[in-house]
Amino acid sequence: MEEKILQVKELSVSFSGGVQAVSKVSFDLNRGETFALVGESGCGKSTTARAIMRLIRAPGRITGGEVYFEGKELLGLSEKEMTAVRGKNIGMIFQNPLDSLNPVYTSGSQVAEGLIVDKMEKGEAWALVEETFRDVKIPDAEKRVKSYPHEISGGMRQRVMIGMMLCRHPKLLIADEPTTALDVTIQAGIIELMNDLRRKYDTAVLMITHDFGIVADMADRVGVMYAGEIVELGDVFTIFDHPLHPYTRLLMKALPVITKKEGRLETIPGTVPDLSKPIQGCRFADRCPDACDACRQYSPAMVEAEPGHLCACHRVKGGEGNE
Ligand SMILES: Nc1ncnc2c1ncn2[C@@H]1O[C@H](COP(=O)(O)OP(=O)(O)OP(=O)(O)O)[C@@H](O)[C@H]1O
Ligand SMILES: [Mg+2]
Repeated sequence: MEEKILQVKELSVSFSGGVQAVSKVSFDLNRGETFALVGESGCGKSTTARAIMRLIRAPGRITGGEVYFEGKELLGLSEKEMTAVRGKNIGMIFQNPLDSLNPVYTSGSQVAEGLIVDKMEKGEAWALVEETFRDVKIPDAEKRVKSYPHEISGGMRQRVMIGMMLCRHPKLLIADEPTTALDVTIQAGIIELMNDLRRKYDTAVLMITHDFGIVADMADRVGVMYAGEIVELGDVFTIFDHPLHPYTRLLMKALPVITKKEGRLETIPGTVPDLSKPIQGCRFADRCPDACDACRQYSPAMVEAEPGHLCACHRVKGGEGNE
């Protein structure tokens, strides 16, 4: 039996105006595993990540659910206890990495700070900072540790962020679109680096992305999010081989195909529904090429179509009616 490091159970988050950004999201992460949450913009991926870290600011709030990290429930912890979990046990790279380094401190001192919080002696911390810079393949590491964030490139700042998180050996790293702001060629290097380092440190990764290309390069398992819900979940080979949810299929078609002249092909027609209003039936029904009457009336239940492969779609209930 694989050891679960993170268990998210029916997590729900709402913002002001009754926006139900995340609705009863459930998934697990095994030790050392990479799980990708994928979906279009506004589907609630970042909100899910921030809720796990307990970083939802009022008037937004977690309205329900449980989050277990190594069996310990996080939502009930005091703020002080939660601060101890952040950084040391769970590291997070935010969606906008270029803003997450403080411009007034050198990049090395910001990496050292975390280690000193972990009670590492100063000299030892600085030695590890240099080693970390080398680990994340920053050239001239001993010089670069003294650079301010504005003196290094965006790609390098992202490498610093990854190093900063991983040098504290968190058991879980949450990476929210860590390469989206970067050039495509730089993206590939960062993904490769993350793959190397997660193996080296045996870190579980919750990877958030809208890009199935990144899912293919990194993930062991995938959860597809739509309008605040997980609509399909399974291991990466199964999802790529036979996606069940029409939304997953369409998202996969939106994968940039570099070999084709047209470049990025289809985007899915229509938009994510207004999450401040109650939605009748399946949230995807309006945009779904396969929608039937039942889809517009009843919300589909999540069913296990085959072991480990879950899908919430009327068309796949019990496995029949698929295709
Ligand atoms: N601080 C906030 N206050 C109000 N609404 C918010 C806030 N943060 C997110 N939302 C809303 O919650 C929903 C989910 O947003 P979220 O940022 O989690 O999506 P996402 O999947 O991460 O999208 P993206 O791919 O664009 O990053 C959206 O409708 C968004 O407008
Ligand atoms: Mg986001």
